[in-house]
Amino acid sequence: MAERFRNKTVIVTGGASGIGEAAARLFASEGGRVVISDMSEKGKDLSDSLNSEGYETTFIKTDVTNEEDVKHLVNSTVEKYGSLDVLFANAGIGGMSLVHETDFSAWKKIIDVNLHGVFLCNKYAIAQMLKQETGGAIVNNDSIHGVVGKAGVGAYSAAKGGVKLLTQSATAEYASKGIRINNVNPGYIDTPLLADLPEEMRQELIRLHPIGRLGKPEEVAKAVAFLASDDASFITGASLLVDGGYTSV
Ligand SMILES: NC(=O)c1ccc[n+]([C@@H]2O[C@H](COP(=O)([O-])OP(=O)(O)OC[C@H]3O[C@@H](n4cnc5c(N)ncnc54)[C@H](O)[C@@H]3O)[C@@H](O)[C@H]2O)c1
Repeated sequence: MAERFRNKTVIVTGGASGIGEAAARLFASEGGRVVISDMSEKGKDLSDSLNSEGYETTFIKTDVTNEEDVKHLVNSTVEKYGSLDVLFANAGIGGMSLVHETDFSAWKKIIDVNLHGVFLCNKYAIAQMLKQETGGAIVNNDSIHGVVGKAGVGAYSAAKGGVKLLTQSATAEYASKGIRINNVNPGYIDTPLLADLPEEMRQELIRLHPIGRLGKPEEVAKAVAFLASDDASFITGASLLVDGGYTSV
């Protein structure tokens, strides 16, 4: 196994489940010191289990919508490991409703976690990376719905479209400072986020992917690790679709 993250410190937000968990496992298996950040205590169980396998991980409980939590996440990471080399800003929530039926409170919650949370994590990670001679790499977990819409995902796509352009503007600000910032844009991925979908809707989603199935969290994690690694040294401001062809048709 390549060790692209040996001596690197990686934060994965929403690292307790789904795509974040798969990414945390991959970063750890490639030598990274991984900070698993999540609101859920399941992140502690994952960290304990990875440490018992000989990996170096830490759990830091974080609500990415809380600025003090995010500051604490970055500061504690740097206190413990000395640097922050990679951020995977992944924490996010779903939610479906037609625009005219969407409660304002539900709209605000989705924008708060999926856009404001990514902004806060980028803000404090970038501030730290600017202090380091070695710069850093950030991958924001966007979505196909940061690129194309779909009935029922108004709030979600508004947040994810915001993430896409936040990434591009931040790229313009920090590319010359040694900080690369990219998006990964998954199609529908088989994670707990989709667990409550009725079977009929699940089959409909599968049909929308020319590849004929939903994605796996590990397939997204591999793209994230690529973008975060030196293999992607000339890639910044990109949105990498990992979508089984969803947006091609
Ligand atoms: N599953 C999909 O089909 C899919 C597709 C495209 C993009 N995504 C994006 O991938 C990311 C991860 O989704 P997933 O499918 O792995 O979901 P998941 O529900 O399995 O994992 C999300 C994690 O984020 C955590 N989280 C939620 N709100 C948080 C907060 N305020 N602060 C900190 N942690 C919080 C949850 O506790 C959970 O552990 C999300 O940003 C989602 O929008 C998912």
